[in-house]
Amino acid sequence: MSELVKIFDTTLRDGEQSPGATMNIAEKVRIAEQLEKLNVDIIEAGFPISSEGDFEAVRQIAKSIRRSQVAALARTNRKDIEKAWEAVRIAKFPRIHTFIATSDIHLKYKLRKTRPEVLKEVMRGIRYAKSLCENIEFSAEDATRSDVEFLCQVLSKAIEAGATTINIPDTVGYAIPFEFGKLIQTIRQRVQGIEKVTLSVHCHDDLGLGVANSLAAIEQGARQVECTINGIGERAGNASLEEVVMAIRTRSDLLRYHTHIIPKHFFATSRLVSKITGMVVQPNKAVVGANAFAHQSGIHQDGILKEKLTYEIMTPDSVGIPKTSIVLGKLSGRHAFRERLKELGYRLSEADLELAFKRFKQLADKKRDIYDEDIESIVVEEILRMPRRYKLIYINVVAGNLTVPTATVQMEVDGRLLQEAGFGDGPVDATFKTIKKITRTKSKLLQFAINAITSGTEAQGEVTVKLEEKGQTVIGQGADTDVIVASAKAYINALNKIEFKKQKLVGM
Ligand code: KIV
Ligand code: ZN
Repeated sequence: MSELVKIFDTTLRDGEQSPGATMNIAEKVRIAEQLEKLNVDIIEAGFPISSEGDFEAVRQIAKSIRRSQVAALARTNRKDIEKAWEAVRIAKFPRIHTFIATSDIHLKYKLRKTRPEVLKEVMRGIRYAKSLCENIEFSAEDATRSDVEFLCQVLSKAIEAGATTINIPDTVGYAIPFEFGKLIQTIRQRVQGIEKVTLSVHCHDDLGLGVANSLAAIEQGARQVECTINGIGERAGNASLEEVVMAIRTRSDLLRYHTHIIPKHFFATSRLVSKITGMVVQPNKAVVGANAFAHQSGIHQDGILKEKLTYEIMTPDSVGIPKTSIVLGKLSGRHAFRERLKELGYRLSEADLELAFKRFKQLADKKRDIYDEDIESIVVEEILRMPRRYKLIYINVVAGNLTVPTATVQMEVDGRLLQEAGFGDGPVDATFKTIKKITRTKSKLLQFAINAITSGTEAQGEVTVKLEEKGQTVIGQGADTDVIVASAKAYINALNKIEFKKQKLVGM
């Protein structure tokens, strides 16, 4: 009989720590609902003490999620734990996840605490958390660079104080698989009471070994893996959820474990997280990348045509990649549109559906085939966006090799129509400069990327911009069949996000 490995998703907490991957509350709830559909065991919804927005996001997720456990992160101090509990207590299955570093490097330079002080803090923190909630996870931050003797002592005390899950983070992605497996083995041998709790791992990907380390740990008895969709997370990210799960499934001959995950939702989940965070999935990304099932060489194509097994170890179907990417067209009706949205994991109110359908019809007039990516763009652009102070009304750009690129832009700013024209080094530069003139904003452009989200010359271009203003960074996105229009939309979307932040409308 295969054993269960619980999947703890931390896309909304560690994933959000990816530079620039901020999400608003509605977006976080949307992702949490998709994670529940994917059937993850635990959703780490956020770190409530870190901001009012995070607190509110955890609270709303705790309210709306009914099947998965919902975890809130807290350091071991009383204030953090109190706040985490306040945010998550409403969940059907709440969990407090508390952590403190155990490595000498962190004790000396970050915490400025001695080992006995850390031991005391762990006991105190967990006892307090336990007085509020039965389900307590404890993480020993930077476990892989900690003295093993001290680590085992801390973990034994954590269990004595009431922790029900013990998590071993490779915080800086430093471990090598055989070494990490050995550490898990040692913990199982030396930590008192370890057999009564769930042993978990949390592997960062700084050396590209997050998934390999997680699998090595499972082999040595870990029964919970912490991971994120698309592997997003602090610095190089975390172990990728879809890769861990598909490795277990595909190599069930060697790995005699199972998870509760429903893999056919991987593709839609990956797309949703990518759209919302603005973090583009690299084409060669395992399991969900655009090329993950594309066979290019003649020899491979010939093999695949004769027998898929020759070059395919899992099927695109099993991870939810649609057979044909053309899904709807000009003649498709409201019903087909609604059904496709449902399959992609979007449940819209009647009013939102109407708005999205109207936009779909406009797009279908310009473009023969509508793809899933197009539909997602409509939903993310039209429905999930935050209140807008700035709106694009009209844009006309003149560019070429013998003319000075000029943009004429008309916008609605706080309900007033404003128009300006401006020059630039290229059509995009001219557009951005003109928008800046109209909005009188001072943001700095940090990043600009165009991604063709569908194929062909009439494809939707998706533009991602990263803007910075007074230390705040935001991601803006826009999609259109015209990349200059998409660029303008992305820029304006980012400006609206900055405004949103300024107004302290929580959740950014
Ligand atoms: O990487 C890490 O150590 C963490 C902990 C808070 C679990 O994210
Ligand atoms: Zn982490």
